[in-house]
Amino acid sequence: MEIYLTDVVKQYPGSPTCAIEGLTLTIEGGKVTTLLGPSGCGKTTTLRCIAGFEGINGGTLRFGETVVSDAGRIIVEPSKRNFGMVFQSYALWPHMTVMQNIAYGLRARNWDKARIAGRVDKMLKMLELSHLGKRYPGELSGGQQQRVALGRALAYDPSVLLLDEPLANLDARLRDQMREEIRALYEQTGVTMVYVTHDQSEAAFLSDNVVVMNAGKIQQNSPPAELFDHPANSFVARFVSRSSVVPASEVRRIDGRLRVKTALGECDLCSDIPVDAESSLLVSPSAIDVLPRGTSAAAVTNKAALITDGEIVRIEQGDIAAICMVKVNDVHLKAHLPLESRFSRRMPVTLAIDPAKCQLIPGC
Ligand SMILES: Nc1ncnc2c1ncn2[C@@H]1O[C@H](COP(=O)(O)OP(=O)(O)OP(=O)(O)O)[C@@H](O)[C@H]1O
Ligand SMILES: [Mg+2]
Repeated sequence: MEIYLTDVVKQYPGSPTCAIEGLTLTIEGGKVTTLLGPSGCGKTTTLRCIAGFEGINGGTLRFGETVVSDAGRIIVEPSKRNFGMVFQSYALWPHMTVMQNIAYGLRARNWDKARIAGRVDKMLKMLELSHLGKRYPGELSGGQQQRVALGRALAYDPSVLLLDEPLANLDARLRDQMREEIRALYEQTGVTMVYVTHDQSEAAFLSDNVVVMNAGKIQQNSPPAELFDHPANSFVARFVSRSSVVPASEVRRIDGRLRVKTALGECDLCSDIPVDAESSLLVSPSAIDVLPRGTSAAAVTNKAALITDGEIVRIEQGDIAAICMVKVNDVHLKAHLPLESRFSRRMPVTLAIDPAKCQLIPGC
C-alpha cells in the first residue's frame, strides 16, 4: 500500500507555527520508511496525520488511489485505514490484561476464539511476554508495556504498520533482538512500514528509505547509505554523519575548481555547488592522516593535502581502530588512529587532510 503526502500542512489550534509544513513524500508500498529527526521536528505529528487521528490544514493524503484526508476533512476514518500503530506512549487499555490488549484488534475483526488464542500465544512467545499474559499494563515495566503495544499492533497482519519509537524503552539486548524481529516480520509479511526514531543506527539497520526532518520540513529522503555518504546539507550531516562539518568562510571558483577557506586553512576541490550559497566542508575521518607534530609538508606524500596543526582532545578505543577528536583552532575534527599508535590525549599533532575525500555541502 503506497501512501502519498502532498503539500501536507499541520498547525495545531492555538500554535503560532506549523508542526509540519508543506510535506511532500511518497511512502513506498512494502518498504520500510523511517522518519528521523530531533525532538519536536514533527515525526509523531506526521504519523498521526497518516493514521487519521489528526486532520490536516492543507494538502492531501492518499492511501493508494484513495484520498483519506484533505484540508480540514478526515475522509476515511482511522478504523477504515487498516493500519497497526505502536504509540510513543504505548496507549494500552489499562483495564485489559496483556492478552486482552493483544486480542483487542482481532476481536474487533471478528476472528474466532481458537484463532485469536493461537495468534495471541504466538505474539506472547515472540515478545517474551508469555509469563505476563494475565497482568494489567499498570503492573508492567515500561519496556514490557512497549512489547505489548508491539504485539497489539502486529497481531492482525495490518497492511500498514506505523511505529513511533517502538524500541526506545527497551534495554540494549532486547532492542537488538526486537529490531531483528521487526525486520524479519517485515520480510515475511511485506507490510508497508513507517518507523519513527531518533536513533540513526536503528534507522540504518531497518530502513529502505530514511526521511530526515527538521522543524516540520524534509531535509533529505534517501536510502541510508546515500544519507551517510552524501548528506544533502549541514543539518543532515551534523545529525547523521560520522564526518565533521566545518563552515566555509569563503568559496571562490578558480579554473573550474573551488577554493574553499575554512578555519582549517584553504583547499581546492571539485564541486558544482553554487558559490554564493552558505556552505560547509564535510571532512570524513578517512580524509585525515594524524601525524606527529612538526611533520613537514615535504614529508607528506599527497601534495594536495591541507596541512594544519591541532591537539588531540579525546581518544575512543574501538574494535578495529581508535577514533580521536582533534581540536584545530575552534574546530573539532573526528579522525581515525591506527590501533597500535603512540598518540595520546593532549598530544600536539599535525593533520594532513585529503581534499579529494572532502565534500562541499550547503548550509553552515
Ligand atoms: N497536541 C498538540 N498541540 C499543540 N502542539 C503540539 C501538539 N502535539 C505536538 N505539538 C507541537 O508540534 C511540534 C511537533 O511535535 P511532534 O510530537 O510531532 O514532534 P516529534 O518529532 O515526534 O518529537 P519527539 O521526538 O520529541 O517525540 C512540536 O513543536 C510540538 O510542541
Ligand atoms: Mg514523537
